[in-house]
Amino acid sequence: MYCQSQPAAQAATMALAVFVFFLVSIVLPLAEAASIEHVFIVNQMKMTCLCKETVVTLVNGQLPGPTIEITEGDSVTVHVVNRSPYNITIHWHGVKQFQNCWVDGVPMITQCPITPNKNFTYQFNVVGQEGTLWWHAHVPGLRATLHGAFIIRPRHGADSYPFPKPHKEIPVIIGDWWEKDLAEMAMNMTKNIFSAYASASTVNGLVGDYFNCSGVAKEGFVLDVEPGKTYLLQIINAGLFSEFYLKIAGHKFTVVAADANYVNPFTTDVIAIAPGETVDAMLIADAPPGRYYMVALPNQAPLPDVQTPEYATRGMVKYKGEHKKEEGHRGTSSDVPIGPKMPDVHDTITSFYFHGNLTSLHHKGHLLAQQRVDEHLFRVLGLGTICKQGQFCKRGNSSDDIQVATMNNVSFQQPTAMTMPLLEAQYYHISLNSTAQELPKRPPILFNFTDEALIPFGPKEMLLEPTYKATLVRRFKHGAMVEIVFQSTTMLQGDSNPMHLHGHNMMVVAQGLGNYDPVKDVPSYNLVNPVVKNTVLVPNRGWIAIRFVANNPGVWFMHCHYEFHLVMGMVAVFIVENGPTIDTSLPPPPDNFPTCGSKINPTPKEFYLQSKKSET
Ligand code: C2O
Repeated sequence: MYCQSQPAAQAATMALAVFVFFLVSIVLPLAEAASIEHVFIVNQMKMTCLCKETVVTLVNGQLPGPTIEITEGDSVTVHVVNRSPYNITIHWHGVKQFQNCWVDGVPMITQCPITPNKNFTYQFNVVGQEGTLWWHAHVPGLRATLHGAFIIRPRHGADSYPFPKPHKEIPVIIGDWWEKDLAEMAMNMTKNIFSAYASASTVNGLVGDYFNCSGVAKEGFVLDVEPGKTYLLQIINAGLFSEFYLKIAGHKFTVVAADANYVNPFTTDVIAIAPGETVDAMLIADAPPGRYYMVALPNQAPLPDVQTPEYATRGMVKYKGEHKKEEGHRGTSSDVPIGPKMPDVHDTITSFYFHGNLTSLHHKGHLLAQQRVDEHLFRVLGLGTICKQGQFCKRGNSSDDIQVATMNNVSFQQPTAMTMPLLEAQYYHISLNSTAQELPKRPPILFNFTDEALIPFGPKEMLLEPTYKATLVRRFKHGAMVEIVFQSTTMLQGDSNPMHLHGHNMMVVAQGLGNYDPVKDVPSYNLVNPVVKNTVLVPNRGWIAIRFVANNPGVWFMHCHYEFHLVMGMVAVFIVENGPTIDTSLPPPPDNFPTCGSKINPTPKEFYLQSKKSET
């Protein structure tokens, strides 16, 4: 049984579906560059899952939301119609948005949100990128149900893949099912992060037969295959809180791309995928025809980390012609399909090795990575606390403080709707000094970042807990080569951290466990074929070193893709300055760019024009 959705307003939705279908089909035939158009109606619906009716926010009534399929070079137009009670923005995760930061979809960073009953049209070209990306709402909590695949095919067709042309391409979106109200959960996260957990995990929106409703097992995702054929799985982790291990009994994967960048193919029986990451993997249906379970298992850091409920989910690979057991049928076909042997829930090293195996197929990064480095940044990631009142309060396991997530011991303060989006301020030359603060280059105190004794509440961690909030920004000159070392810490948790940078890809030059040591670690950098990613997983109690070229002018979010780290402030904003020419500068905002209502007076544009006038 599928989790069933019931439209809040049925008639309207029927009409809408026809309308959406009509518009979605305005896809020009394969030409040099097509124009792909979608309408996203964001609406609340009731869904019944696990015997419980839950109100969820969806795009076009679908979970996962509609897949956007394009060819590299196409232009994409998405009309977002907000019929939900929430402020919405949509982010095109991994799409570089070169010279087009305006449509990056981060509330109050790149745009005023689309308020209820308002529309906004996102329009952008996708150039120089191929593979699997995704889109999601950039609104606390809501991306759990507002997301979908974003597939970019090569301009010269599937024959130009750097691997054998697959028989079929199949998105595999791993996510979670929440019975809790997501907006409320996100709001309360800093009060009690440990009560924020999902009720089930899903593959392509289906909870699978580990879950039941009144004793009846739920249907899981079924991948129908034909013997001998090859399938390209476009795997996306859209979950809020967990890295997943994905396995299919009796089969191996060949990983061919990550974050829409081709990698040197390697074979593995397990895929590790953190929130925000995507992996393209080939699956050959070369096992004896039968039914094989596909399991996605969330992992978590072992004790003394706080343990939260995490649920595996199960789907199936089914060979053509294999139904229920047929009398007298031999081979592996039986009543009980074969299940894979999963890694331990607390196994974090399998992920470390999986990510370490990723290397870039095209060595475009080769020369780039070896260039001079203009900026070296060291980012320490952890948790801390802020007193509810005043500067001093009881820390540790205390109700006098709230927990926050930090970068170099500062927790990001989201600019409020009373101000203007940072991008507009930057574009119209309005000083950010009153809102923003420079992100410290290094942490204020050096300590043994990966000391296990810091995980549980105690005297050691309490000394390091105090932190504060600020809207952290870091400016980069156009074209600067930036190196960042992200260091995970054991401050109140030993989590890994999937760090995502908007508007740029990063080259992963090294990763390691324990504390980063430049003397020992720099010589081991891979400057030959570093994997190129938009989301890099900083290992549990470890570090990662990346480089990127700050060549995309704009104001870009950089954050941990674990929802609780993001909501609690493990965030900074990178401002990339304009280059010397028009071609290297950010053009003006698009038409009908959302405004933040009457709260800002004058608007950033008016303010800019006024100040120009008074100058002359
Ligand atoms: Cu996929 Cu800023 O996020």
